[in-house]
Amino acid sequence: MSTAAAIIASLLVLAGIIGSIAVFCARRMRKGIVSELQAAVAPPASNVVQVWEVDAPTTERFLQDLAREKPVRFTAQQICSFTNNYSTTLGSGGFGVVYKGQFPNGVKIAVKVLKKRDEEQFMAEIGTIGRTYHINLVRLYGFSYDSLMSALVYEYLENGSLDKYLFSDTQSIGWEKRHEIAIGAAKGIAYLHEECQRRIIHYDIKPANILLDANFLPKVGDFGLAKLCNRDNTHDTVTRYRGTPGYMAPEFSLNNFRITFRCDVYSFGMVLFEIVGNRRNAIRGPTDSLDWFPKHVWDQFEKGELGTMTSSRGIEEKDREKAERMSLVALWCVQDSPDARPPMSAVVKMLEGGVEIMPPPRPSHYPFSGGMDVIRSREDSSSEEATSYWYKKSTPVMTKYERQIATL
Ligand SMILES: Nc1ncnc2c1ncn2[C@@H]1O[C@H](COP(=O)(O)OP(=O)(O)OP(=O)(O)O)[C@@H](O)[C@H]1O
Ligand SMILES: [Mg+2]
Repeated sequence: MSTAAAIIASLLVLAGIIGSIAVFCARRMRKGIVSELQAAVAPPASNVVQVWEVDAPTTERFLQDLAREKPVRFTAQQICSFTNNYSTTLGSGGFGVVYKGQFPNGVKIAVKVLKKRDEEQFMAEIGTIGRTYHINLVRLYGFSYDSLMSALVYEYLENGSLDKYLFSDTQSIGWEKRHEIAIGAAKGIAYLHEECQRRIIHYDIKPANILLDANFLPKVGDFGLAKLCNRDNTHDTVTRYRGTPGYMAPEFSLNNFRITFRCDVYSFGMVLFEIVGNRRNAIRGPTDSLDWFPKHVWDQFEKGELGTMTSSRGIEEKDREKAERMSLVALWCVQDSPDARPPMSAVVKMLEGGVEIMPPPRPSHYPFSGGMDVIRSREDSSSEEATSYWYKKSTPVMTKYERQIATL
């Protein structure tokens, strides 16, 4: 055998050995990830689900089991593997970049890699967010936290966020579905405010944070993030926290003003206008004039011509009643005074119908420009007594609101 042939043969043998070692290591690594995950999500030994040899029914079972567990902690390597080395970006926002990924069992996920972190706060909040389950809230499967990166692992919503449909010329959602989306999102926020163990104020309600599943079922996302990223203790100075312009409640512009859960009600009202209008609330005209949809809704309501507004937005006669109801609720939600805004459980009732909505007072400032004296805050007023302020059931008793107006 010539020397060249001997060298080639040795190289081939060497390549074979290296290849076998690489395959062995990859298998070991995969097995490591899988067994760590199994350990993290495994239910008690008696009913272990073999999630990693997954078919559709076991995936379902896996999700059900995961729902009973704490959020799962993943390593940075696992996140890298789930996202196929961060190969598909879904978008980015104030907190970081969101990547598409999937668990080894095929369940799709959205991974938000966070910019800011504060370990103590992160760990405290993750427990709360991870245990907050509602059909209208985006589910947090788990998280990753180490010296290099922190990330949140969410369920993946096939149809992305609502803004994509409301503000697009090419895609839109029919009226009936938009009405259902409004009610579903309101239920999700009502749960955060009124039903979960510890009240969660969202601080950033907007169409981009209302996500839609394959059937356009709405789920509110990013709840708990303001706190998790240490953006909660901010009511004392304005500069430290701002939600998204256009949705942010006016009290954020006031120094030393206590911010309550009713800031979310205001933002939700702004979202409602956009759902009714199927457009952005503010559109700048050619001469720099501002076409402000909520003002338009108020003007039409004041003239008793809400029907004209809804028909100009392409809403059919048969859907007018619902659209008018939604407009009234929006007008109530965006009242300057946090006290005058209904709690979200009342918003749900009013949107669903079956109650008579009281005529809303003028939300005095569009955009907000003063009148600070009218703003008063009451921390907990989601009682039935307060509820009757915004709507009445069947008996025409004089409401607290009517009594106030009568004494003016
Ligand atoms: N769970 C998810 N499933 C599918 N897409 C998602 C999911 N979470 C976020 N996205 C998409 O990722 C994009 C970025 O989301 P992100 O929350 O970072 O930004 P944002 O909502 O615009 O701003 P903010 O930081 O204020 O929440 C959005 O366009 C959204 O549609
Ligand atoms: Mg978001």
